[in-house]
Order: sequence, then C-alpha cells, then structure tokens
Amino acid sequence: MTIKKTKIIENPELLINAGNPKGKLGEELINDMNVNHENLAQWGVGHLDISKQSIILDIGCGGGVNVKRFLEMTENNVYGIDYSSVSVKKSIELNIEEIENKRCEIRQESVSQMSFDDNTFDIITAFETVYFWPDFSNDLNEVNRILKDDGIFMICNEAIPKENDERQKEFIELLNCSIYSKNELVSYLNNAGFSNIKTVINESKDSFTGEDSTWICVIAKKF
Ligand SMILES: C[S@@+](CC[C@H](N)C(=O)[O-])C[C@H]1O[C@@H](n2cnc3c(N)ncnc32)[C@H](O)[C@@H]1O
Repeated sequence: MTIKKTKIIENPELLINAGNPKGKLGEELINDMNVNHENLAQWGVGHLDISKQSIILDIGCGGGVNVKRFLEMTENNVYGIDYSSVSVKKSIELNIEEIENKRCEIRQESVSQMSFDDNTFDIITAFETVYFWPDFSNDLNEVNRILKDDGIFMICNEAIPKENDERQKEFIELLNCSIYSKNELVSYLNNAGFSNIKTVINESKDSFTGEDSTWICVIAKKF
C-alpha cells in the first residue's frame, strides 16, 4: 500500500524519517519511496552507460529498488550502503536472492567512512540522499576514493533550492538537510577532484506532493 501524497506532508513524524528511516514509520516511508521515486530513478538511470561488466554501488540505497534494477542491468556485482538499519533490512529483503548468490551485498555504514577498497567501482549512484550527507566535501572525497580511475558518479535529486518556498524551508529545518543548486553540486564535485561534470535538468513533479519540481541529475568522472 502506498501513502497518500498529502499524508507525508501533513505528518512531520513520518517525514523526518526521510533522512534516516527508523522504526515502523521508517519502514512505511521506505516502502513508499520505493514506489514514488520510480519515475525519478528511471530518469536518472537513463543517463548512465551500464555494461554487463559494471561493478556498481548505490549509496543511501533506502529500500533497495535501485540495487535490484542494477542487478538486472549488469552481470557483475552490485552493492548498496545505507546507515539506517531499516533501509538495510528492506534492501536485503528485496534483493535476498542475489545476496544468497553472492552477487549482491548490502552494508550498514555511512558514506563518510565506507569499508570498500580504493578503486573498486565502475559506477556509484546517489538517489535522493546527498541532502543528508553530514560533510559533503569529505563525503565526495570518500566516493572519489572508491571509484575506479575511469569510474562514474551520479547524483540524482528531485529538488533544487527555491527562493520563497516556505514548504522547502520547513523541510530543510525539519530534516536539518541541505538542498544544493546545480552550481553548488558542480563546485563541490570539482573540489573533490571529479571532472567531465555534466548536469541535466527536468522540470517535473515532486514524487510526494505532485507539485512542480525541478529534477537534477549530475554525472561526473573521477578523472
Ligand atoms: C530519501 S531516502 C532515499 C532512498 C533511496 N535512494 C531512494 O531514492 O528511494 C535517503 C536515504 O539515504 C540514507 N542516508 C542519508 N544519509 C546517509 C549517510 N550519511 N550515509 C549513508 N546513508 C545515508 C538514509 O538512511 C535513507 O535511506
């Protein structure tokens, strides 16, 4: 069952779970994100060049739908990390078959300190999660570290900063998060050593409210 679009907005106790899903409400929200983020995720993934050999990591994997999608697109291994135990549990449930086949692994850890070796991944993705990363500069250095030299990092967000948007202001305060503009994302990525940074914008609708929303997909190469 999916949550009615307005329910999340009217219910701060539910919304607060977006940054770190916990307990029953966290599970409820994760189930809903798996459904409501589908259009955004498909749009973002459409900008990636995934081969059968690609080794992929999804950071802030939430309920694991993108991990599942990537398992169908590559024949190689797919990993997910998330610091929420609820997200990790949900991602494991959804991908249990390939976890048992040793082709998939979900780890509970923070983007700020990941347990992967340097130069591990061909593709790393971050859907709707960088808003919550605690130290964006350091966290991007950490992403850069575990990417292979010709690796690709993709950020996919359904929000950019909007002046005079009271709801967005409330959201940022409630969740203690950051919503980045296109220029900010490019600048952070440049400073972390990424290059060939491309941005794509889509004027669309918010996954939960259905209101006008600007989606942004940023794709960067390690070198
Ligand atoms: C809004 S949800 C998005 C989930 C999923 N990527 C999607 O698009 O449906 C944000 C997720 O990022 C995770 N997250 C936030 N900050 C994180 C961090 N510092 N390290 C790891 N995961 C983080 C949260 O626990 C949550 O599962």
